[in-house]
Amino acid sequence: MKKVNQIRKATSSSFWLLISVIGLVVFAFSCNDISKDKAKSPVAEGEEWYKSYCVMCHGEDGSGQGNMADKLQAPPSDLRTIAQRRNGVFPDEEIAKIIAGVENVPGHNETGEMPAWWETFKKSENITDDKVLEEKIDHIVAYLKSIQQ
Ligand code: HEC
Repeated sequence: MKKVNQIRKATSSSFWLLISVIGLVVFAFSCNDISKDKAKSPVAEGEEWYKSYCVMCHGEDGSGQGNMADKLQAPPSDLRTIAQRRNGVFPDEEIAKIIAGVENVPGHNETGEMPAWWETFKKSENITDDKVLEEKIDHIVAYLKSIQQ
């Protein structure tokens, strides 16, 4: 009888051990998911936006060879050479303004082909807080900075 009890005790404790291990594994996985989401770097987020909004003109690699490039009067800039064309300096502020549409890019006045993204992002991403929108644009700038040659 003592033996049976011992076995029963042993099985029940290993049962609970198993349950806790499963619980821990599930917990760890869900934490991992959350932290992955939180840990998305500004550059990674900027890249996502770039892929959604900019590739059709500026191309997958930023070279300016997007699908729509041929149909435009002014060729889309090679975004990998922003710094090169400015004596090696990447001007974060200026690029953020160009993207937002606050600052016109050379030739923009004549062709009007580089869209002003401020209003577009507000609508398409449903952003009402200007601070949030500024941050999103900064992330795109960070991405562009990361692809400079
Ligand atoms: C409809 C096509 C089109 C789309 C879409 C587009 N651009 Fe442009 N972009 C242009 C053109 C054309 C120019 C060159 C403007 C000129 O010289 O008139 C330009 C210029 C720029 C410049 C100036 C670069 C420099 O060398 O000074 C930046 C920065 C830029 N685009 C960023 C972006 C970003 C970021 C996106 C996506 C959010 C985007 N563009 C989407 C067409 C586009």
